[in-house]
Amino acid sequence: MFEIFNKQIIAQDIKRIDVYAPDIAQRVQPGQFVRVCPEEGSENIPLSVVDWDVKKGTISLIFQEEGDTTGKLGSLPIQESIFSVLGPLGVASKIDKKGIVVCLATGMGAAQILPICRGFQKAGNKVIGIIGARTKKKLLLESQMRIACHKIFITTEDGSYEKKGLATDVLKELIHKKEVDFVYTIGAIEMMQDVCRLTKAKHIETRVQLKPIMVDCVGMCGSCRVKVNNKIIFSCIDGPEFDGHQVDFDDFLKRMQGFKESDKCHSGKQQFSPEKKELGPLMRFLSGILSD
Ligand code: FES
Repeated sequence: MFEIFNKQIIAQDIKRIDVYAPDIAQRVQPGQFVRVCPEEGSENIPLSVVDWDVKKGTISLIFQEEGDTTGKLGSLPIQESIFSVLGPLGVASKIDKKGIVVCLATGMGAAQILPICRGFQKAGNKVIGIIGARTKKKLLLESQMRIACHKIFITTEDGSYEKKGLATDVLKELIHKKEVDFVYTIGAIEMMQDVCRLTKAKHIETRVQLKPIMVDCVGMCGSCRVKVNNKIIFSCIDGPEFDGHQVDFDDFLKRMQGFKESDKCHSGKQQFSPEKKELGPLMRFLSGILSD
């Protein structure tokens, strides 16, 4: 079970693996994720299910190798099995007919937004994709996004490919031209906050995916709490998708920065969870209990 069927390097430090997990492939829906433990005794990492094939019984996961656990996962060869894959977890995305849907993603968000684009396209919407990357080497899944969207815009911060600038600049232009009915965004917290500010001012419904620290991924540890509509809820079981206009981004940012300062944890990490060595003492303690 959980045999690695295929493995590819898709961008700098970023790998895709197709894993045999027929039960998950049958039940997973856009927006959901799995909890992966590469080897017995290693930590759990939550990863979005980017693609799946019910006939082959496989799911596709994309991750950046940036620590011990993702490194271990990336080093497993084809035909080797992953120790455990739990899922699908989280609430599936609300996908329905909206009209012109803009799907905007930056960094690893481009992988996570791909099934969302496909879902909105299938539901009869006109899907406009905007992908932002720091540089061309970090750009993900361009060809798949071109198929999943009716139109696509790519921005790179250093100008190494397509339009130089930020993905939000393109959104501003589209809003100005009144070519947006609905926005879905995944990426850095500040970027999603900017998007929500822009769309709130124009009363454009916006949904976001939040990727806080996750330890157990099943609603027990409380590490992934976020404030939405003035209520504290858990991203792993109530999300990861939320109404962007109801998210308290300042609170979320403060919480993620707290981890960053005390534990050298990046708020912009592409997985939902830091490695255990990056967690604070309490989280390490919790993580230890939960993995026993
Ligand atoms: S990761 Fe959500 S409650 Fe533990």
